[in-house]
Amino acid sequence: MAYLQPDKPEKVYLPAIRTAKESGKKLVCLTAYDYPTARIVDEAGVDMILVGDSIGNVIHGYGNTIPVTLDEIITALIAVKRGTERAMVIADMPYGTYHVSEDESVRNALRLMKYGGAEAVKLEGGRNRVKLVRRLVDEEIPVIAHIGLTPQSVYKLGGYRVQGRTAEAAKRLIEDAKLLEEAGAFAIVLELVPREVAEIITKDLEISTIGIGAGAECDIQVLVLHDLVGMTFGRQPRFVRQYSSVRDVMTAAIQNWSNDVKNGVYPNEKESYGLTEETKKELEIS
Ligand code: KIV
Repeated sequence: MAYLQPDKPEKVYLPAIRTAKESGKKLVCLTAYDYPTARIVDEAGVDMILVGDSIGNVIHGYGNTIPVTLDEIITALIAVKRGTERAMVIADMPYGTYHVSEDESVRNALRLMKYGGAEAVKLEGGRNRVKLVRRLVDEEIPVIAHIGLTPQSVYKLGGYRVQGRTAEAAKRLIEDAKLLEEAGAFAIVLELVPREVAEIITKDLEISTIGIGAGAECDIQVLVLHDLVGMTFGRQPRFVRQYSSVRDVMTAAIQNWSNDVKNGVYPNEKESYGLTEETKKELEIS
């Protein structure tokens, strides 16, 4: 029997993440929620693409991630997979899809893999998720954990604040990270965590840390694509460095087109289709 090998040889799977940690090579991860952005991100050489539940804030304008559904993630995931050749594609498990029972969580994670094409899933929580992570890993589902600021707990936390600032809270985060590693997670997102705490966790663990607002010591950095390219509204958190303003570029393009239409210079002859001289004669038009 010959094994099918449809992927590019340099396609990023778990071993590449492990090797990068061992050799100290930094990796990058960005979010994407549709085909064109996935293609751009993948072709730019980004190693991991997260179909994050930030789709709720960035694409659907919900204000937080709580309302995001499994179907919304799966629809986005299918498009992202079509646009991705090299990067590892990770799916967020939305709020409510891994909270009821272990069996239901496994079923939902399997849906992300079977119907969406996810190559790994990500879920939020610390020691309270250890048993679930172990079960998912036992079912051959690669898992990324997520601690620190966990946006699905926004109502419990009362806002989006840096986590692990006291010695007690920092120790708890360090312990949680270790427990999640022992449970079989292959990487762990550290969101809005003091850089010193992220550094301790990164040095402590054999698995990779993925930092967002957690300083430079993390093995992998992740950002929401729309924050990076300037396609968001309102004040940005201090860890966001905006590398371009796609929103301004789009606004200018739309205004220029609109003005051209109103001034009668779009579309011009080359941008429309004409009849042949013969047909014009038949129709008696000049
Ligand atoms: O949903 C998301 O985009 C995330 C990242 C911020 C890590 O969880």
